[in-house]
Amino acid sequence: MTQTDLASEVIRDLLRSGWIIERARHDVYISWGGHDREAAWAAERAGLIATALEANGRPPDNELVAPHARWMLSVGGGSPDEFPLAPMFMVRMADWVDGHVGPFLDDDEPRLREIGAAQREALRFPGSLPAPPPYRRLDIPELKPPGKVRFTFGILGDLHVGSPNATDRVRAAIADLNASGAELVIQLGDITDHGNKDEFETAMQLLAKLEMPHATMMGNHDVYSIGEGRLSGKEYYSSYFGREPDGVVLHHKGISFAVLDSIEHAASPFSPFDLVTGRFIEGADAGAVVRGTLTHPQHDILADIAGPEGGPAFIFLHHPTQPYTGFPPVLFGLRDEDAGRIHAVCDSGNVWGVFAGHTHRNARTRDYDGVPVHEVAIPRDYPNGYALVDVCEDGYRYRFVQISDEKLLRAASESTGPFQQRYGRGTDEELSFVWTRPSI
Ligand SMILES: [Fe+2]
Ligand SMILES: [Fe+2]
Repeated sequence: MTQTDLASEVIRDLLRSGWIIERARHDVYISWGGHDREAAWAAERAGLIATALEANGRPPDNELVAPHARWMLSVGGGSPDEFPLAPMFMVRMADWVDGHVGPFLDDDEPRLREIGAAQREALRFPGSLPAPPPYRRLDIPELKPPGKVRFTFGILGDLHVGSPNATDRVRAAIADLNASGAELVIQLGDITDHGNKDEFETAMQLLAKLEMPHATMMGNHDVYSIGEGRLSGKEYYSSYFGREPDGVVLHHKGISFAVLDSIEHAASPFSPFDLVTGRFIEGADAGAVVRGTLTHPQHDILADIAGPEGGPAFIFLHHPTQPYTGFPPVLFGLRDEDAGRIHAVCDSGNVWGVFAGHTHRNARTRDYDGVPVHEVAIPRDYPNGYALVDVCEDGYRYRFVQISDEKLLRAASESTGPFQQRYGRGTDEELSFVWTRPSI
């Protein structure tokens, strides 16, 4: 892929993302009632973006609006009565659109920004904010495994070593995994927070404590060293983990574990965006692009998994596949073509589950014809844990587990606001589920 192709593809996806956000915001304002002006503004902004999409030869993603509106309502937008920060959440997403989509609207950019400024102006901050909910360990449903358990493996989400609180919580999760009986652990990328060499070294020391075979993968945070200001991730990853980031397949007791490195080796053209203030952080280095892609050797891995000799397999990657529901839509997931490949591989009947990191939440992105595509929350962020999967003859039981260190967990929960708790927790079914192979 040339830099030019990358740019046009990313611009197209930015426009798609902005359009979905504005259409979904419109629907949320309508469902709140009494926000006709805001709904009209969002509709007008969507119209401006639709014009640019049309010029790019891409129809808007109508089918993605309803799921995103539902997601906005479930996480931050329930209603201004239920959740006083809801109006700010809605406007901050629009601020993201101003910054990331505005520059590609040409003549329509001033109008987009004019409405953006009016929205900010109209925003009233609540007089008081809700206190974080009192600390309570999550009540995670205990489901029966679908038959005799053959073995258990662990999934360790993004580590983000180098960010505040990451190291202690990762260490606690690793100690728990060692005591869990897991025979294998797959880590889901974003090993480091800033892609720096010292962070890779600390992460290596933490991962070396795992007492069972384990595999890692690259995440977008590992691609670019903020400290050095360069795309150093390939070099560091291969020197620390002993393989090129082109995916690897592990085999354990007749099951294949396809571990993919879904990162794009490219620097982000944008500064980091602060969703609290709604502004770019001036002078800061954003690192790598956030979305995912797969290399040709990984296409070959997927083809093998789907083949008649493939046998049962799990697929792991950093980026959730498409259609992805979350923020920012489209752009935060795996590029469409590669997501389509994974979908096709699931259709082979060999795949039992797809697990992704990147979003720091428990979420079932979707099923591909009955195969779960599941996002796994992380040790550092609420609800602070990892996942265990009990593999049985014809299926498995998945469950998220909070770290057992009560002191760490309490401190983590008490410092997490209600918005992040709603974002990270997931539903009961996203915390624990059973999957059984369909009978043929
Ligand atoms: Fe991450
Ligand atoms: Fe990530």
